Amino acid sequence: MRPRHLATLAVAFAATLTLGALPAAAQGSLNVYCSAQVEWCQAAANAFQKETNIRVNVSQKGSGEVLAQIRAEAQNPRGDIWFGGTGDPHLQAAEDKLSAEYRSPMLDQLHDWARKQAEQSHYRTVGIYAGAMGFGYNPELLARRNAAPPACWKDLLDARFRGEIQMANPQSSGTAYVMIATIVQLMGEEPAFEYLKALHRNVNAYPRSGTGPIKAVARGETGVSISFVHDAVTERLGGFPVQYVVPCEGTGYEIGSMSIIAGARNERNARRFYDWALTPAAQQLGAETKQFQTPSNRNTPVPAEAPKMDQIRLIDYDFAKYGASAERRRLIERWDREVNSLPR
Ligand code: F6P
Repeated sequence: MRPRHLATLAVAFAATLTLGALPAAAQGSLNVYCSAQVEWCQAAANAFQKETNIRVNVSQKGSGEVLAQIRAEAQNPRGDIWFGGTGDPHLQAAEDKLSAEYRSPMLDQLHDWARKQAEQSHYRTVGIYAGAMGFGYNPELLARRNAAPPACWKDLLDARFRGEIQMANPQSSGTAYVMIATIVQLMGEEPAFEYLKALHRNVNAYPRSGTGPIKAVARGETGVSISFVHDAVTERLGGFPVQYVVPCEGTGYEIGSMSIIAGARNERNARRFYDWALTPAAQQLGAETKQFQTPSNRNTPVPAEAPKMDQIRLIDYDFAKYGASAERRRLIERWDREVNSLPR
């Protein structure tokens, strides 16, 4: 395992991380639940703390895990703001009133897709970045197995990928839920579940985190992952043999989001962080920490390494439907019951 991964794991597994020593004139504190990669979470917390003297505590978890935590803590919220993670669980939190309404003065600077996320949630969440779903693969490993890389969703069912694919577990990972919702939208629900059952035979593990599968590809532990393609770029730039492809049939995407937690103890600080996180200066911390999503502020430069969203065949992802609380819960439970329980 390379040192960078060790560092990532060390921080990811630490439940909570408090940054630096308290400055003399501390302006209170802020508890951030973060579903972006830990490097970005930490850089954002550092920069905000430095700028405002607000002490920032960060806890990094997958999108589904944060949603479950916010729900469990609803009577006594411990988090103030949820930064990053796929948009559907943020929409679900909004519908279930687990997040607070806030209309940031920064909304005017955002791309339509990010503003729409805010409008759709009655201003309980907002888009901070976008990213497309695809496959990551390890060309060296596939060459050793004499297996051509996948190009289409249907290729993942091929016998050449038996035990060679990873996707995350949708209970904990927003990435995995986007994949399931994408397949349902592309194929219709019944054929989609037949597809997921057939795919299960080729899957060797469903890790908790959405980036788990691409990190396994990078380490040569699995040939193929179902991942956001920007996460493949991160691994490639980290020096690992990783390529990505977007499926020929078309693909889904995420609107990575941010929400203030309902009943937050530090709501004023949460609003300050919210406005700050929508500025170009804050959004550029993504690329600075090698995260290559497309930023939501129109004035934030799109990193040259970011996959070109306008060149990807995206489906018209129905965020209202697939971010609805009952639908999201139903599809995940169905996957768990009908797919995850099957032998391989
Ligand atoms: O941080 C990388 C990333 O792919 C984000 O783009 C996405 O919002 C997040 O991970 C989702 O993580 P998870 O699938 O673990 O909820």
